[in-house]
Amino acid sequence: MTSMTINGEALRFNLDPATPLLWALRDVANLTGAKYGCDTGECGACTVIVDQRAVTSCTVAIGSLEGAEVVTIEGLSSNRTHPIQQAWAAEQVSQCGYCEPGLILAIAALLKANPRPSEAEVEALPNICRCGIGPRMKQAIARASIAMTGGDSLNTIAREAAPQPSIAPE
Ligand code: FES
Repeated sequence: MTSMTINGEALRFNLDPATPLLWALRDVANLTGAKYGCDTGECGACTVIVDQRAVTSCTVAIGSLEGAEVVTIEGLSSNRTHPIQQAWAAEQVSQCGYCEPGLILAIAALLKANPRPSEAEVEALPNICRCGIGPRMKQAIARASIAMTGGDSLNTIAREAAPQPSIAPE
């Protein structure tokens, strides 16, 4: 039996402790936002937040998560108001969508640790996307960073990728 908090709700899993968190989430808790990709910790499709850190849920056994706090895409915000979710929509980042729950959670964890990430930190995100959302994703991260910091002291990524006005000022 393994107890943890998922999206603010206390849950107890009566599963083999070696069960990957991904399958506990998808098959038992019915939280299917975390996606199955490589199953080897390399693609990031299964990323969730555990105790404030982005982790690949396919590589974490639930037995190691006693008392942990887990956040999945379903629990990132109650009404899609997290700054990166709002920025994702505003910048029309979505394409096929398969990698996006994991990417959004990885970015949410990054922004929580550092609301003004450098371009190098953004490019170091390990999540793989094959659709080519990179430029729009950077715009969304910049937009979310601005929203979270009030727009002061923008760092490199925010300055370079900040949304530009569509009409030039007179
Ligand atoms: Fe977990 Fe790819 S499915 S990292």
